[in-house]
Amino acid sequence: MAGRVKKIGSDKVKYRAPKGTRDILPAEAAVWSHIEALFRHAAARYGYGEIRTPAFEDVQLFIRSIGSDTDIVSKEMYDFVDKGGRRISLKPEGTAPVVRAFIQNNLQAVNPLTKLFYISPMFRYDRPQAGRYRQFHQLGVEAIGSDDPLLDMEVIMLAISFLRAIGLKHTTLLLNSVACGNCRPRYVEALKDFLAKSHDDLCEDCRRRYTDNPLRLLDCKNPACKALLQKSPQISAYICGPCREHFDKVRKGLDSLGIAYTVDPSMVRGLDYYTRTAFEITHDGLGAQSSIAGGGRYDRLIKECGGPDLTGMGFAAGLERLLLALEAEATMPARRIPCSAYLIALGERARINTLSYLYKLRDAGLHVEYDYLGRSLKAQMRAADRLSCRFAVIIGDDELERGTASIKDLAQGSQTEVQLTALVDYLLQ
Ligand code: HAM
Repeated sequence: MAGRVKKIGSDKVKYRAPKGTRDILPAEAAVWSHIEALFRHAAARYGYGEIRTPAFEDVQLFIRSIGSDTDIVSKEMYDFVDKGGRRISLKPEGTAPVVRAFIQNNLQAVNPLTKLFYISPMFRYDRPQAGRYRQFHQLGVEAIGSDDPLLDMEVIMLAISFLRAIGLKHTTLLLNSVACGNCRPRYVEALKDFLAKSHDDLCEDCRRRYTDNPLRLLDCKNPACKALLQKSPQISAYICGPCREHFDKVRKGLDSLGIAYTVDPSMVRGLDYYTRTAFEITHDGLGAQSSIAGGGRYDRLIKECGGPDLTGMGFAAGLERLLLALEAEATMPARRIPCSAYLIALGERARINTLSYLYKLRDAGLHVEYDYLGRSLKAQMRAADRLSCRFAVIIGDDELERGTASIKDLAQGSQTEVQLTALVDYLLQ
């Protein structure tokens, strides 16, 4: 009953998060922040600046860029008409909004090569399962303004460097060239010729794709279509000289750095805007939803969206899938932000007289916990233990008389008494 109002008894209701969405509670959110920080750091090292685009856009932007025959557009968009009669969609991915923002804000005038990164929720109305959600989160980059194959390599290296930084090891890089506007029609013709005899055996969707957008035949999940396509011609055999040269340069660049990859001639990605380099990074431990990151070059998209004739390259990783991959490798980063001290003020007088120290310690940058439940000294000590606090700072009437605090080092088991005026310096050290 996810996403519905659940009736309990006659008059009680229980609300649940909508199907395909999840609450990220503090312990997990701490890991999310950690991974996001590592992504920001990786992006900054490569010279990418942050961009934040709206959660929704004109639906036409996605139809035009991702393609009307893709699963994302034809089945998975959260689109609706707003109260002003505009057709809107929550963003299913980040590239089209970044390209829209790039054009709208004339970013090529600021810099001939624009390098942007984003961290954002995305929305796809897909059938939820492990690793597939209706609201998920992408960490992505887009580099717009150069067709240099070494830029493709930079984007792939940024993805790899980030995955290494979060500690993932069992990943595979899949690489392909999905041709350009010049050579793709030859491939599409070959694909259609190959399937012409079996046209009637294709599923209804594929019969439509056959006429409207044959490349999308390769996305079909129907077992009969999949079987028919198994021996179909491969796009890499049809790419033109300049596309081959481009692909060879990307491969040579990766070879020169000793980056392992597999050329996968059947990998064409599920979005229409790709040209030339396409890549995916998969993880062994994820089952059906094994793609943790994907991207590629889009050399016609910016112009098709009404912008200048510039080329782009980017990728996005799915945060939820990264976490599943980390779990599969049993390398989840620590979930707790360490607590420096638990301040235990015993009695009303101590509570009032020590408040200023609680806030001074926090202002000094320390994580300090405090009791608001009227618990005993023993219960507060147990709480400090549970939170893995380094110190318990105890101030009772005796300590107040002496102007001191008793400090228990919970890691080492030792105890000492420190002047209240020296408390901040002591704990900071
Ligand atoms: P994508 O392959 O559709 O590419 O998505 C990128 C990543 O988002 C996937 O590899 C996966 O980890 C994650 N992802 C996709 N759908 C879901 C879902 N329903 N639940 C959980 N995670 C999901 C793009 O979106 C392109 N815009 C990437 C790109 C950027 N290409 C060039 N620049």
